[in-house]
Amino acid sequence: MQVIFMGLPGAGKGTQAERIVSEFGIPHISTGDMFRAAIAEQTELGMKAKSFMDQGQLVPDEVTIGIVRERLQKSDCEKGFLLDGFPRTLAQAEALDAMLSELGRNIDVVVNLHVAKENLLARLTGRRICKSCGATYHVVFNPPTTEGACDKCGGELYQRSDDTEDVVATRLDVNIKQSEPILAYYAEKGLVREVEGEQPIDEVYEQISSILRGVE
Ligand code: AP5
Ligand code: ZN
Repeated sequence: MQVIFMGLPGAGKGTQAERIVSEFGIPHISTGDMFRAAIAEQTELGMKAKSFMDQGQLVPDEVTIGIVRERLQKSDCEKGFLLDGFPRTLAQAEALDAMLSELGRNIDVVVNLHVAKENLLARLTGRRICKSCGATYHVVFNPPTTEGACDKCGGELYQRSDDTEDVVATRLDVNIKQSEPILAYYAEKGLVREVEGEQPIDEVYEQISSILRGVE
Protein backbone atom coordinates (compact mmCIF):
# COMPACT_ATOMS: atom_id res chain seq x y z
CA MET A 1 0.00 0.00 0.00
CA GLN A 2 1.34 3.43 -1.02
CA VAL A 3 -0.05 6.29 1.05
CA ILE A 4 0.56 10.05 1.15
CA PHE A 5 -0.27 12.12 4.23
CA MET A 6 -1.03 15.75 3.49
CA GLY A 7 -1.93 18.54 5.89
CA LEU A 8 -0.55 21.86 7.06
CA PRO A 9 2.33 21.99 9.56
CA GLY A 10 0.97 20.73 12.89
CA ALA A 11 -2.06 18.96 11.39
CA GLY A 12 -0.93 15.70 13.01
CA LYS A 13 0.79 13.90 10.12
CA GLY A 14 3.77 12.72 12.15
CA THR A 15 1.67 11.75 15.20
CA GLN A 16 -0.70 9.63 13.10
CA ALA A 17 2.04 8.24 10.86
CA GLU A 18 3.89 6.80 13.88
CA ARG A 19 0.85 4.68 14.74
CA ILE A 20 -0.29 3.86 11.21
CA VAL A 21 3.08 2.43 10.15
CA SER A 22 3.13 0.16 13.15
CA GLU A 23 -0.39 -1.12 12.35
CA PHE A 24 0.23 -1.59 8.62
CA GLY A 25 3.91 -2.61 8.71
CA ILE A 26 5.10 -0.09 6.10
CA PRO A 27 8.00 2.36 6.41
CA HIS A 28 7.36 5.98 7.41
CA ILE A 29 9.12 8.30 4.98
CA SER A 30 9.19 11.86 6.32
CA THR A 31 11.33 14.30 4.36
CA GLY A 32 11.38 16.62 7.39
CA ASP A 33 12.76 13.79 9.60
CA MET A 34 15.34 12.92 6.93
CA PHE A 35 16.52 16.53 6.77
CA ARG A 36 16.67 16.82 10.59
CA ALA A 37 18.73 13.61 10.78
CA ALA A 38 21.12 15.00 8.13
CA ILE A 39 21.44 18.26 10.09
CA ALA A 40 22.21 16.34 13.31
CA GLU A 41 24.89 14.34 11.44
CA GLN A 42 26.23 17.55 9.85
CA THR A 43 26.23 16.05 6.36
CA GLU A 44 26.35 18.08 3.16
CA LEU A 45 22.61 17.49 2.71
CA GLY A 46 22.01 18.76 6.24
CA MET A 47 24.01 21.94 5.56
CA LYS A 48 21.97 22.60 2.41
CA ALA A 49 18.61 22.01 4.11
CA LYS A 50 19.25 23.88 7.37
CA SER A 51 19.11 27.46 6.12
CA PHE A 52 15.78 26.87 4.35
CA MET A 53 14.23 25.04 7.30
CA ASP A 54 15.34 27.66 9.82
CA GLN A 55 13.44 30.27 7.81
CA GLY A 56 10.36 28.10 7.30
CA GLN A 57 10.97 27.92 3.55
CA LEU A 58 10.92 24.77 1.42
CA VAL A 59 14.17 23.00 0.63
CA PRO A 60 14.76 23.18 -3.17
CA ASP A 61 13.00 20.53 -5.25
CA GLU A 62 16.11 18.93 -6.74
CA VAL A 63 17.51 18.22 -3.26
CA THR A 64 14.23 16.89 -1.87
CA ILE A 65 13.37 14.80 -4.91
CA GLY A 66 16.87 13.28 -4.83
CA ILE A 67 16.58 12.01 -1.25
CA VAL A 68 13.12 10.54 -1.84
CA ARG A 69 14.26 8.78 -5.01
CA GLU A 70 17.09 7.15 -3.07
CA ARG A 71 14.82 6.19 -0.18
CA LEU A 72 12.15 4.57 -2.36
CA GLN A 73 14.75 2.26 -3.87
CA LYS A 74 15.47 0.64 -0.49
CA SER A 75 14.15 -2.88 -0.09
CA ASP A 76 11.80 -2.10 2.83
CA CYS A 77 9.68 -0.03 0.40
CA GLU A 78 8.76 -3.15 -1.57
CA LYS A 79 5.78 -3.71 0.76
CA GLY A 80 4.64 -0.10 0.35
CA PHE A 81 5.26 3.12 2.25
CA LEU A 82 3.74 6.15 3.91
CA LEU A 83 5.00 9.49 2.59
CA ASP A 84 4.70 12.29 5.16
CA GLY A 85 5.48 15.84 4.02
CA PHE A 86 6.24 14.86 0.42
CA PRO A 87 5.24 15.90 -2.22
CA ARG A 88 4.95 19.58 -1.32
CA THR A 89 5.21 21.13 -4.77
CA LEU A 90 3.75 20.17 -8.13
CA ALA A 91 7.26 19.44 -9.42
CA GLN A 92 7.70 16.96 -6.54
CA ALA A 93 4.31 15.34 -7.28
CA GLU A 94 5.23 14.89 -10.94
CA ALA A 95 8.68 13.54 -10.06
CA LEU A 96 7.04 11.09 -7.65
CA ASP A 97 4.75 9.82 -10.41
CA ALA A 98 7.77 9.24 -12.64
CA MET A 99 9.63 7.36 -9.86
CA LEU A 100 6.60 5.20 -9.11
CA SER A 101 6.04 4.30 -12.72
CA GLU A 102 9.69 3.17 -12.94
CA LEU A 103 9.01 0.97 -9.90
CA GLY A 104 5.69 -0.26 -11.35
CA ARG A 105 3.73 1.26 -8.45
CA ASN A 106 1.06 3.83 -7.89
CA ILE A 107 -0.36 5.88 -5.03
CA ASP A 108 -3.41 4.19 -3.47
CA VAL A 109 -4.66 7.04 -1.35
CA VAL A 110 -3.88 10.61 -0.29
CA VAL A 111 -5.08 11.32 3.26
CA ASN A 112 -5.62 15.04 3.82
CA LEU A 113 -5.70 15.96 7.51
CA HIS A 114 -7.71 19.11 7.98
CA VAL A 115 -7.14 21.47 10.93
CA ALA A 116 -8.08 25.18 10.88
CA LYS A 117 -5.09 27.49 10.57
CA GLU A 118 -5.86 29.30 13.85
CA ASN A 119 -5.42 26.07 15.83
CA LEU A 120 -2.04 25.18 14.35
CA LEU A 121 0.08 27.81 16.08
CA ALA A 122 -0.72 26.40 19.55
CA ARG A 123 -0.09 22.86 18.35
CA LEU A 124 3.33 23.73 16.94
CA THR A 125 4.66 25.99 19.68
CA GLY A 126 3.62 23.41 22.33
CA ARG A 127 5.13 20.42 20.53
CA ARG A 128 7.95 18.49 22.19
CA ILE A 129 9.92 15.63 20.64
CA CYS A 130 11.98 12.83 22.19
CA LYS A 131 15.71 13.17 21.43
CA SER A 132 16.18 9.41 21.59
CA CYS A 133 13.20 7.82 19.81
CA GLY A 134 11.51 10.74 18.01
CA ALA A 135 8.11 10.29 19.71
CA THR A 136 5.97 13.44 19.57
CA TYR A 137 4.19 15.06 22.54
CA HIS A 138 2.36 18.29 23.29
CA VAL A 139 2.66 20.20 26.55
CA VAL A 140 -1.15 20.54 26.78
CA PHE A 141 -2.82 18.21 24.24
CA ASN A 142 -0.62 15.13 24.66
CA PRO A 143 1.68 15.59 27.66
CA PRO A 144 4.15 12.93 28.79
CA THR A 145 3.51 11.34 32.22
CA THR A 146 6.71 12.90 33.59
CA GLU A 147 7.38 16.47 32.45
CA GLY A 148 10.27 16.67 29.97
CA ALA A 149 10.76 12.88 29.63
CA CYS A 150 9.56 10.41 27.00
CA ASP A 151 6.98 7.81 28.15
CA LYS A 152 8.35 5.23 25.72
CA CYS A 153 12.08 5.40 26.39
CA GLY A 154 12.73 7.98 29.13
CA GLY A 155 14.59 10.17 26.59
CA GLU A 156 14.84 13.93 26.98
CA LEU A 157 12.23 16.05 25.18
CA TYR A 158 13.20 19.06 23.06
CA GLN A 159 11.51 21.76 20.98
CA ARG A 160 12.14 21.91 17.23
CA SER A 161 14.05 25.06 16.20
CA ASP A 162 11.41 25.87 13.57
CA ASP A 163 8.55 25.71 16.10
CA THR A 164 8.98 29.33 17.20
CA GLU A 165 6.09 31.74 16.54
CA ASP A 166 7.68 33.69 13.68
CA VAL A 167 9.02 30.66 11.79
CA VAL A 168 5.65 28.90 12.24
CA ALA A 169 3.90 31.89 10.63
CA THR A 170 6.13 31.60 7.54
CA ARG A 171 5.73 27.80 7.40
CA LEU A 172 1.95 28.15 7.43
CA ASP A 173 1.94 30.77 4.67
CA VAL A 174 4.32 28.77 2.47
CA ASN A 175 2.39 25.53 2.95
CA ILE A 176 -1.09 27.02 2.45
CA LYS A 177 0.04 28.39 -0.90
CA GLN A 178 1.74 25.17 -2.00
CA SER A 179 -0.82 22.61 -0.86
CA GLU A 180 -3.81 23.73 -2.93
CA PRO A 181 -2.43 22.81 -6.38
CA ILE A 182 -1.17 19.45 -5.08
CA LEU A 183 -4.52 18.58 -3.56
CA ALA A 184 -6.17 19.52 -6.86
CA TYR A 185 -3.65 17.31 -8.72
CA TYR A 186 -4.55 14.27 -6.60
CA ALA A 187 -8.27 15.12 -6.44
CA GLU A 188 -8.38 14.94 -10.22
CA LYS A 189 -7.06 11.39 -9.95
CA GLY A 190 -9.79 10.61 -7.38
CA LEU A 191 -7.26 9.75 -4.64
CA VAL A 192 -7.98 12.29 -1.89
CA ARG A 193 -9.74 11.30 1.34
CA GLU A 194 -10.47 14.12 3.76
CA VAL A 195 -9.96 13.52 7.48
CA GLU A 196 -11.18 15.85 10.22
CA GLY A 197 -7.99 16.41 12.20
CA GLU A 198 -9.42 18.48 15.05
CA GLN A 199 -10.76 15.53 17.01
CA PRO A 200 -8.75 13.77 19.73
CA ILE A 201 -5.69 11.86 18.50
CA ASP A 202 -7.34 8.41 18.97
CA GLU A 203 -10.41 9.41 16.96
CA VAL A 204 -8.37 10.83 14.10
CA TYR A 205 -6.43 7.58 14.13
CA GLU A 206 -9.64 5.53 13.85
CA GLN A 207 -10.75 7.55 10.80
CA ILE A 208 -7.43 7.07 9.01
CA SER A 209 -7.08 3.42 9.94
CA SER A 210 -10.53 2.63 8.60
CA ILE A 211 -9.79 4.43 5.31
CA LEU A 212 -6.56 2.45 4.90
CA ARG A 213 -8.18 -0.89 5.79
CA GLY A 214 -10.56 -0.14 2.93
CA VAL A 215 -7.78 0.21 0.36
CA GLU A 216 -5.56 -2.67 1.51
P1 AP5 B 1 8.17 18.70 8.32
O1 AP5 B 1 9.00 18.06 9.33
O2 AP5 B 1 7.48 17.89 7.31
O3 AP5 B 1 7.16 19.65 9.09
P2 AP5 B 1 5.66 20.12 8.74
O4 AP5 B 1 5.00 19.73 7.52
O5 AP5 B 1 5.77 21.56 8.99
O6 AP5 B 1 4.82 19.29 9.69
P3 AP5 B 1 5.05 19.07 11.16
O7 AP5 B 1 6.00 17.98 11.41
O8 AP5 B 1 5.36 20.40 11.79
O9 AP5 B 1 3.57 18.72 11.63
P4 AP5 B 1 2.76 17.36 11.70
O10 AP5 B 1 1.59 17.46 10.80
O11 AP5 B 1 3.64 16.16 11.54
O12 AP5 B 1 2.24 17.48 13.20
P5 AP5 B 1 2.52 16.58 14.49
O13 AP5 B 1 1.94 15.22 14.32
O14 AP5 B 1 3.94 16.66 14.93
O15 AP5 B 1 9.01 19.81 7.52
C1 AP5 B 1 9.90 20.69 8.17
C2 AP5 B 1 10.66 21.51 7.16
O16 AP5 B 1 11.47 20.64 6.33
C3 AP5 B 1 9.82 22.32 6.16
O17 AP5 B 1 9.45 23.57 6.70
C4 AP5 B 1 10.79 22.43 4.97
O18 AP5 B 1 11.78 23.43 5.21
C5 AP5 B 1 11.49 21.07 4.99
N1 AP5 B 1 10.78 20.09 4.14
C6 AP5 B 1 10.18 18.94 4.56
N2 AP5 B 1 9.63 18.28 3.52
C7 AP5 B 1 9.86 19.05 2.42
C8 AP5 B 1 9.52 18.92 1.05
N3 AP5 B 1 8.80 17.87 0.59
N4 AP5 B 1 9.93 19.89 0.19
C9 AP5 B 1 10.67 20.94 0.61
N5 AP5 B 1 11.01 21.13 1.91
C10 AP5 B 1 10.61 20.19 2.80
O19 AP5 B 1 1.58 17.36 15.55
C11 AP5 B 1 1.88 18.69 15.96
C12 AP5 B 1 1.56 18.85 17.45
O20 AP5 B 1 0.16 18.73 17.66
C13 AP5 B 1 2.22 17.80 18.36
O21 AP5 B 1 2.63 18.40 19.54
C14 AP5 B 1 1.09 16.78 18.62
O22 AP5 B 1 1.24 16.14 19.88
C15 AP5 B 1 -0.15 17.66 18.56
N6 AP5 B 1 -1.31 16.95 18.02
C16 AP5 B 1 -1.32 16.03 16.98
N7 AP5 B 1 -2.58 15.59 16.75
C17 AP5 B 1 -3.39 16.25 17.63
C18 AP5 B 1 -4.80 16.23 17.88
N8 AP5 B 1 -5.62 15.44 17.16
N9 AP5 B 1 -5.29 17.03 18.84
C19 AP5 B 1 -4.45 17.84 19.57
N10 AP5 B 1 -3.10 17.90 19.40
C20 AP5 B 1 -2.58 17.12 18.43
ZN1 ZN C 1 11.54 8.38 23.45
